[in-house]
Amino acid sequence: MTILILTGAGISAESGLGTFRDKDGLWTKYDLNEVATPEGFARNPKHVQTFYNARRANCRGATPNAAHVALGQLVSAREDVILVTQNVDDLHERGGATGVIHMHGELARALCAACDHRWDAPDEMSVDDPCPACGTKATRPDVVWFGEMPYHMERIYDAMAEVDLFVAIGTSGNVYPAAGFVTEAKQNGAETLELNLEPTDARGLFDAGRYGPASQVVPLWVDEVLGR
Ligand code: APR
Repeated sequence: MTILILTGAGISAESGLGTFRDKDGLWTKYDLNEVATPEGFARNPKHVQTFYNARRANCRGATPNAAHVALGQLVSAREDVILVTQNVDDLHERGGATGVIHMHGELARALCAACDHRWDAPDEMSVDDPCPACGTKATRPDVVWFGEMPYHMERIYDAMAEVDLFVAIGTSGNVYPAAGFVTEAKQNGAETLELNLEPTDARGLFDAGRYGPASQVVPLWVDEVLGR
């Protein structure tokens, strides 16, 4: 049995990290074209680094909630569980999950736009930081921006080919390719389940849905899967 779980910003909402599209979400406060595209970074790298330094500080100050911990227990208890996240925070890891597939990258990592070298990001990144490998001052957060190819897609689609149960947690299903995973899973004969604060626009694509705060809904679901 292969369970593939896809998480989004909603799983970290109760840890105090904002979502993107809820009423006071990040994209209601910032123009994503300015802070989440390669063009925005090219126009004003300092502004983008400041934006991600603030998000990195928020993450450092956040703690994993019961949903992260429950998924950490599930991943530890069952080899057939694959955890894919759209989130760039490290709350899954701090909640006990290992082998998390970060398809949108990680705030905790830095990337050299000149030579593709990656390293652990300092708390405060600056455009004046030279790349430790090539020395070029072209450092950026190692996160995937709009218009860029998400990471680990081959690994995700290989897993999707074997999936028996696909579970989307805390994601609005707005951004592809992640938004297409439920359809891919169904085409592969999987059952599909949405766990979210409330039904999303994609609800009709799922076989079933359970609604409420992730810190309540996810542990109950994990208890069921683990027969606890
Ligand atoms: N518990 C469960 N779900 C919640 C909670 C909560 N406490 N709070 C909010 N949600 C749900 C919302 O109902 C919504 O469906 O989380 C979802 C958040 O949706 P988005 O803000 O669109 O975030 P996400 O789906 O992760 O966005 C996907 O878009 O901007 C890009 O790269 C960014 O990875 C992100 C991607």
